[in-house]
Amino acid sequence: MINHDTITKIMETVRIEEVVGDFVSLKKRGTSLIGNCPFHNEKTPSFHVSVAKGIYKCFGCGKGGDSVHFIMDHEKYSYPEALKFLAQKYNIEVEETVQSPQNIEAQNARESLYIVSEYAANYFANEMWVGEQGRAIGLSYFKERGFREDIVKKFQLGYSPDVWDALIQSAVAAGHKEEYLEKTGLSIRNDKGKLYDRFRGRVMFPIHNFTGRVIGFGGRTLKTDKNVPKYVNSPESDIYHKSNVLYGLYHAKKAIRDTDNCYLVEGYADVLAVHQAGIENVVASSGTSLTTEQIRLIGRFSQNVTILYDGDAAGIKASLRGLDMILEEGLNVKVVLFPDGHDPDSYMHHVGSGEFKKYIENNRKDFILYKASILLKEAGTDPIKRAGIIRDIVESIAKIPDDIKASIFIRECSGLLQVEERILLSELNKIRVAKFKKSGAGSQGQGSSSFQQQHQGQNQYQPYPDGPPDNLFENPDAASEFIEAPVAEENDLLQEQEIVRLLLAYGHELVSWDKIDNMYIGSFIMQNLADVSFQDELCKKVIDTYRDEIENGHLPVASQFINNEDRKIAELAITLSTSPYSLSENWYNKHNIYVRDESINLKATILGGLYHLKKGKVARMLMDIAKELKTETDPVNQEILMQRFIFIKGVEKEISKFLGTVILK
Ligand code: UTP
Ligand code: MN
Repeated sequence: MINHDTITKIMETVRIEEVVGDFVSLKKRGTSLIGNCPFHNEKTPSFHVSVAKGIYKCFGCGKGGDSVHFIMDHEKYSYPEALKFLAQKYNIEVEETVQSPQNIEAQNARESLYIVSEYAANYFANEMWVGEQGRAIGLSYFKERGFREDIVKKFQLGYSPDVWDALIQSAVAAGHKEEYLEKTGLSIRNDKGKLYDRFRGRVMFPIHNFTGRVIGFGGRTLKTDKNVPKYVNSPESDIYHKSNVLYGLYHAKKAIRDTDNCYLVEGYADVLAVHQAGIENVVASSGTSLTTEQIRLIGRFSQNVTILYDGDAAGIKASLRGLDMILEEGLNVKVVLFPDGHDPDSYMHHVGSGEFKKYIENNRKDFILYKASILLKEAGTDPIKRAGIIRDIVESIAKIPDDIKASIFIRECSGLLQVEERILLSELNKIRVAKFKKSGAGSQGQGSSSFQQQHQGQNQYQPYPDGPPDNLFENPDAASEFIEAPVAEENDLLQEQEIVRLLLAYGHELVSWDKIDNMYIGSFIMQNLADVSFQDELCKKVIDTYRDEIENGHLPVASQFINNEDRKIAELAITLSTSPYSLSENWYNKHNIYVRDESINLKATILGGLYHLKKGKVARMLMDIAKELKTETDPVNQEILMQRFIFIKGVEKEISKFLGTVILK
């Protein structure tokens, strides 16, 4: 039992933001701090910490409490364990009314595994620094490789003597049970029931969990014998789950947060080397290929990952796919390649830490653009190969959950691949639709798409219907943004023209889509434009005329615009009516990819036009707010802007989701 005064003292000392901050990357918002919830998987933060109240609350999964609850929940500690953890963090002496025997025979079996692992780490370190064999073989090995003593100490490196049961002897003599040595995998029992050490004659790399406790080991052989495995690793155990452990995270997490970037390397030695160069935000997925859990673990500290590769081409190609996984988790991925088959470790020792640092900073490339460039180089001028690459690249982009980010990549790759943005976008939609269908979400007959839901009972023209899916436009504040929006930018212009083009080309066609029965596309488009104001003078004139006519019971025809007395309107109508896509069609035909025919999937075409327009507008609103936020100093106004930003962001997400999934069904 922990003494009451001690508890009071702990509660008075702990700061929720520091306790939570050790595990979650927190950012200031208004009076509270927010971050991604560590208790459920999320990509947009809904985990709030109130510094004033000393509590946290996740609006996503509902978890909440004070510092003690947080540690109990996060570390799966009991109440007294959590208190002791906090006491240790703040150097508070714990007084217990009944001294609990803090001995090796701890009741908690998991705790025993931690304890024996810590013991082993100390034992191996001691063997290396003090033991005769350790000093002669282990320590001198690290020195020869150029690792500094402070790095060797920092990572608790050690040496396991080349004896069958050196660790067992020592541990048992110190009171540890064989059972726990076995359960951690430090020792192995053979068929004859004899226990022996897993690690013998190896330099030892303890693996820490991200609170700093030792949970496993990697042991590197010092022999050059090809029959001896280079590394022996601890097996999975109750405290070591390889798929959600990153080597070095404990030592890196603060730096990852501070620099908002995480370097990812392959091996133990690479982590040490990069640290030695003064770069502490580095981890390795040692022993396994990178897992989703590991990526999420990184994501708790930063959204930016930079992969440090060794330069061999085969390895690079093989890893391209794996990197898509990181994109899929919403993280930004950059890569750095090292020349001449160097890995981070060898390159650091080759050029020295200063040069190494510079190299990393000057040679990072965005992963997708990098991927595009190496695939392009490989394909040369072969058009079929190039077409394959387009698909490959767009597949990577399709993994990016954030649609805005994805569209930026589409634009950049369009330049790099010399392919029109529109073509890449249509590829992107195809992939997303396929994914959507595969996920089962697209199954028919349920009225399940947001489009269907939003259009229920809308088979008659209403001047101001609830357009799908943008409740944004019910908000007068947000709507006024549209009206006051600055001069149309080029993208807006194109999208506005596209709507006019669709009206002129298909306005007179009768369609029955889902809940919409026998409706003119012209009416349908106008109905869905009720909440959008056009920026371009000419487009606006056409749209206004169109709307007036429909409200008076006429359906305008293209010819009345083509022959309009206003020369400019006539010119616009003529331009837009004479297939503006002949260019891209030629491109398709020439490269034998596929022939696009928008009239085959009119619904997709029309909805695509409408939502791209809306999305463009929403994106610009977001940009404007972001700009305002930068200069706004009043915290109340900041908060209002922030709220509005989040709200519109939600709308944008809806639109994106719609564009990404339903559109080409
Ligand atoms: P490397 O062979 O690149 O090892 O494997 P390294 O860390 O660079 O070691 P040095 O520089 O030769 O000393 C990369 C990682 O793959 C795992 C280890 O985690 C290693 O750090 N590995 C490699 C194994 O688990 N077992 C092996 O036999 C080899
Ligand atoms: Mn190496």
